Amino acid sequence: MPMYHSLGLIPHKRHTQFRRPDGKLFSEQLMGSKGFSGMSSLLYHHNPPTMVQRIGDVRDMTVQLAPREPLRHHHLLTRPVKAMGDPIEAREVLLWNTDVNMGICRPARPMDYFYRNGMGDELYFIHQGTGRFETVFGTLPYREGDYVILPRGTTYKVVADKGEQRWLVIESVSQIETPRRYRNPYGQQMEHSPFCERDFRRPEKLETHVEKGEYEVRVKARDELTSYHFDFHPLDVVGWDGYLYPWIFNIEDFEPITGRIHQPPPVHQNFEGHNFVVCSFCPRKYDYHPLSIPVPYNHSNIDSDEIIYYVNGNFMSRRGIDVASFTVHPQGIPHGPHPGTVEASLGKESTEELAVMLDTFQPLHMTAAALKYDDQGYPTSWREHGHGKPAKLAETKNGGRNGAHSRGGVKSPGKNRLAPGRKGATTRK
Ligand SMILES: [Fe+2]
Repeated sequence: MPMYHSLGLIPHKRHTQFRRPDGKLFSEQLMGSKGFSGMSSLLYHHNPPTMVQRIGDVRDMTVQLAPREPLRHHHLLTRPVKAMGDPIEAREVLLWNTDVNMGICRPARPMDYFYRNGMGDELYFIHQGTGRFETVFGTLPYREGDYVILPRGTTYKVVADKGEQRWLVIESVSQIETPRRYRNPYGQQMEHSPFCERDFRRPEKLETHVEKGEYEVRVKARDELTSYHFDFHPLDVVGWDGYLYPWIFNIEDFEPITGRIHQPPPVHQNFEGHNFVVCSFCPRKYDYHPLSIPVPYNHSNIDSDEIIYYVNGNFMSRRGIDVASFTVHPQGIPHGPHPGTVEASLGKESTEELAVMLDTFQPLHMTAAALKYDDQGYPTSWREHGHGKPAKLAETKNGGRNGAHSRGGVKSPGKNRLAPGRKGATTRK
């Protein structure tokens, strides 16, 4: 989202003397992406961001992948998940590949440290809860339906309000941005875009902290979370400007594109990164051709995996899907409306469904943590007589269902470039 923004105090010229009230120089920091060629911002700190007191604990951030199994559809039921841990500890990756991963987070207690992801951009979808992201660029209050985009390198703390919190979390090795086809060469959203700049919420309040004390910043990089300790508050920026900063888009601000006949998923696209897209399925009028069929046709996503997270409303084409469920439809096998849903949709004029979809162009692997949410009956749920009978799954020849998951000839439940928050395989009961 390339839009210039500035908050607080900055000098008239970059890289020139800019002094604190006590006469000492502020410390200028460039936060740049793609070397020095991508979007960047210049920040002015009270203290040099390099002035670490000591480097502390290192936590393992690898995620265990699920054992190899036959190719099949999955339905993950995460509604019953109990809240636990702080907003970083509570993150649980369910699906992973080398481009992107997706998981859930239901925090129960506040963070007593700051966090910085040095491995990837982050996108939180706030399914339930309110609160604020306190970042080095300023504060961003959040509410239900918000997509919160945090560029890598952003130092922040999530301060959740009281009440239920339920978030979807996506981490991307590449930059998360709006679809390029909706932007003109100047970066402006064009008229056919389902949203525009007025819908983007940027940091509006910069709180500059000059307190001294003990502060910890946990930095995620190289599959590890390393504690950095400072004797000053890390949110000590007096001003900044540039194009790189966290921002928010609320799913209710997505204006659905509809037509006389069924519109394909690209009309729902909201974000993209390298080898993936994120789509928003929002309440909308159905197709208005007199013989239109509102629910989607059977389709084979032959070169992409398709994950849908169900937020609210009645998803017309599926049976047995709960709020906070994921459906996982991998490439190679077709999927489509459940029996009876096509007929039931005829004549319907609108839908209240709300869902978030992640499509990836490289296979997504299930993590070991995802298995405990898996609905074994889902692969055969398209049979006329319903849903819920566990599929009879064949053994794989190489290692069987309990064999190690092999990726590119390396036989191990692998190392994760983007695994958040927990040691080894995670458990949630
Ligand atoms: Fe689909």
